[in-house]
Amino acid sequence: MIIAIDGPAASGKGTLGKRLADHFGFAHLDTGLLYRAVAGVLLDRGTPLTDRDAAAEAAENLDVSHLDAPNLRGAEMGEAASVISAYQPVRDALLAFQRQFGSQEPGAVLDGRDIGTIVCPDADVKLFITATPEERARRRHVELLRRGENVEYEPILSDIRRRDERDMNRATAPLKAAADAITLDTTHLDADAAFWAALAIVEKSAPKT
Ligand code: CDP
Repeated sequence: MIIAIDGPAASGKGTLGKRLADHFGFAHLDTGLLYRAVAGVLLDRGTPLTDRDAAAEAAENLDVSHLDAPNLRGAEMGEAASVISAYQPVRDALLAFQRQFGSQEPGAVLDGRDIGTIVCPDADVKLFITATPEERARRRHVELLRRGENVEYEPILSDIRRRDERDMNRATAPLKAAADAITLDTTHLDADAAFWAALAIVEKSAPKT
């Protein structure tokens, strides 16, 4: 059983994915962390993000056992991840791991940008989570302040708009809803309400859960 969750930056995919996974006893992978970790390797080495070969090499040799490192979740890493994630060899290098993760029993929840379209096109349920850029920026602002990052709202909104633009318009695996995905707009839903709405969609789409 695979639940694929896609959507733009800070749409709440990660929180939702984790709650659905916990509810069903499934494994959860926030695939954005893979791209953030690849970007982190380059930043640590002082290698420019424009170095495609270095990014591909970092993706091929990525150590996936440190995806819970708190520094990966910062704003700088999200922006850097969006740059290197546009490189096809980086995406190719991360594909097998994601597919293998998705094949776990009794099931897995994966969230990202291309899960329903490319990573798991045969997923049992595909959700596309959206919210207005302003609401997503508001949520990300609260999250970053809680993490102790001293950031303003406006730059976060510009970052979200820039990343959406880049993620939607790149040639490789652009952010878009799969034809058979169900869109859930969470602009007016808090985390609990989004979870219950998503759960209802999953139970309707895959009654065997
Ligand atoms: O949490 P947030 O939505 O801000 O970002 P994320 O899901 O951690 O993803 C960071 C960046 O990685 C995105 O802006 C995408 O460019 C890229 N990404 C991707 O290309 N494909 C995925 N499956 C997941 C993330």
